[in-house]
Amino acid sequence: MITLRNLDELLKENLKDKVVLVRVDLNVPIKDNIILDETRVERIIPTIKELAMAGCKVCLLSHFGRPDGKNNKQLSLRQVIAPLEKYLKKEIIFSDYCYGDKVKKTINNAPSGSIILFENTRFEDGEKKNDQALAKNISKNANYFVNDAFSVSHRSHVSTTGLSKHLPSYSGRYLDQEMLMINNALSLDDGKRLGIIGGSKISTKLKVLENLINNLDKLFVGGGMANTFLLAKGYKIGKSLCESSMINTANNILEHAKNKNCELILPVDALIAKDMKKGSLFNEVSISKVPGDALILDIGPKTISNLNEILGKVSSVVWCGPLGLFEVNPFQTGTISVAKEISRLTKQKALISVAGGGDTVAALSQSSYNKDFTYISTAGGAFLELLAGENLPGIEVLKLDSEEK
Ligand code: 3PG
Repeated sequence: MITLRNLDELLKENLKDKVVLVRVDLNVPIKDNIILDETRVERIIPTIKELAMAGCKVCLLSHFGRPDGKNNKQLSLRQVIAPLEKYLKKEIIFSDYCYGDKVKKTINNAPSGSIILFENTRFEDGEKKNDQALAKNISKNANYFVNDAFSVSHRSHVSTTGLSKHLPSYSGRYLDQEMLMINNALSLDDGKRLGIIGGSKISTKLKVLENLINNLDKLFVGGGMANTFLLAKGYKIGKSLCESSMINTANNILEHAKNKNCELILPVDALIAKDMKKGSLFNEVSISKVPGDALILDIGPKTISNLNEILGKVSSVVWCGPLGLFEVNPFQTGTISVAKEISRLTKQKALISVAGGGDTVAALSQSSYNKDFTYISTAGGAFLELLAGENLPGIEVLKLDSEEK
């Protein structure tokens, strides 16, 4: 288990009027000026509140979108002031800059326990380059650095790793929670761990597949990437999405799973149609009977029932990637049916269930079943990198040195 310098350590200090930079991820989904999901805001509140209660001046740092080092009004963090104030029940002070004398003045004038939100860190050219001059400038006005943004900890930017070179650094409550919940589901060691992996391409999830096979007992593969495995096994998949250049790789993965004693499970039937449009006529067919002009767009009822049976026998499930073309009705059926069973078993305390990855969360949120999962990570890329067994740079800098343990 990874040990990080956490907030408990920092709270041992006398924090009255100390300035703490807290990296959060306020990169929330927004459409027509409406925030579609406030989970990322809600989950950072405990860290902010604890620090404010200890008398710190809490300075929030976050990116929003990908402005590439340029000021872009549409990507201003002013848009998240309202939800932050709603959850904190407190007024937020906004700073147009992340460093410099104006920021210093704003901080000096703010009373203890204030919360100051800095403008989008990615408006600074040096942020993504992890420019040490920028890191130094930002850290000049502060005493401590806290990272509470697991979802951006796979990036080595000024606000994730750079600041830790200049300030004593700690993990926040939300970052700790994400790491704990994801690692728990992966590290249970009872021979009954299942992974569910979907999405369109094997090539983007090669390391994830390999690491899950190394760590889990069973792995179900659905979504477009299952088609490449089916093709590798000699099935005809019609005009379905697949990566024919990855056939050898798929065979190697099947072999690797055998060697590692991880049961790799593929769909036995599918929902097919002649095109991907909403309202197209669709059929259920066995995987050995996919017609030449058809597209596989979701797992079929027999596969759902197989998967539900497996879920009844395992003790944990980690899920990443939708099982069908969930954006188009009725090809969300597989994903939603499996989510329903996971939610039922989780409620009965028969299962620990963790899901993550941008598309997965979007697919699961089409139903209310996601609410009963043990944990839904808000991370996309960082979740995948953790599942791939990678070291995340933003986490590495928070690890306790062996002599500190
Ligand atoms: C995310 O939404 O996954 C994180 O905020 C990271 O965003 P990025 O991919 O633009 O670094």
